[in-house]
Amino acid sequence: MQKSDFIPIATPRLIVDEFKTSDYARLQEIAFNINRNADEHAAEGYCPFYTFQVDKDTPNRDIAIRQKVSEFLIKAERERNQEPRSTYRMAVRLPDGKLIGNATVDMLPIEEDGKKIYGDLGYFIDPQYGEHGYATEAVRGLVHHFFKKYKKLDITAHPANKFSRKLIERIGGVQVGYKEASHYGHGEPRAVFEVHKADFYRSCAFNRQMPNLLTILINRQIAQGGKK
Ligand SMILES: CC(C)(COP(=O)(O)OP(=O)(O)OC[C@H]1O[C@@H](n2cnc3c(N)ncnc32)[C@H](O)[C@@H]1OP(=O)(O)O)[C@@H](O)C(=O)NCCC(=O)NCCS
Repeated sequence: MQKSDFIPIATPRLIVDEFKTSDYARLQEIAFNINRNADEHAAEGYCPFYTFQVDKDTPNRDIAIRQKVSEFLIKAERERNQEPRSTYRMAVRLPDGKLIGNATVDMLPIEEDGKKIYGDLGYFIDPQYGEHGYATEAVRGLVHHFFKKYKKLDITAHPANKFSRKLIERIGGVQVGYKEASHYGHGEPRAVFEVHKADFYRSCAFNRQMPNLLTILINRQIAQGGKK
């Protein structure tokens, strides 16, 4: 396995680092939990992550879900060996190492319809650890890393994905468009959001609660940030 160029991120309650082959069993549990949650709570605005989503009436659904988990880990390994590396598909863990989710960001822009897309953020959290702020905390850690290089991040969500939309808005994202289908939607519609660096830092609790020296320093860093 190639050495990682990613320095693990420690947030107040989490560690964000590389996936390991040994994550397979736990990731499989999470994928089953996500599909079960989607079966039971779609009406409340819960959408599964397309990466693990297998329709309820699919024959041999369990095998299909396991297959998707394998593909996910193979992709993570392939991306880790990219040269230069673009995709950071990261594991989200509790301090004791337990895997509870994922956050992925593209550090090199993607070209779509002649337009550059920055970041193309993705994430999921084990529903058993949902609604504790873990997904937002992990995403904030990774996006802070991204904003050392860029000033704007592009992200999409299925229009019915209430929880993803809330997360995006929580980190300062604003809906700027809608697409019937796009590469990230895998043929499904997508609400298109942008997160601007200044709005991201304004949305961080410590920035709202401590309008002091730390804020001045962060705002200075924003002002001095890249021009992209
Ligand atoms: C999208 C997804 C990650 C959001 O998960 P989530 O549990 O809603 O998000 P968080 O973990 O950040 O939790 C946020 C909630 O926890 C609450 N919370 C509870 N305790 C908290 C604490 N100690 N600190 C912070 N927030 C806390 C927050 O208030 C918030 O709830 P609210 O929106 O009602 O205010 C999840 O729904 C998911 O995995 N979906 C499937 C995959 C998916 O759709 N991915 C997106 C593809 S674009």
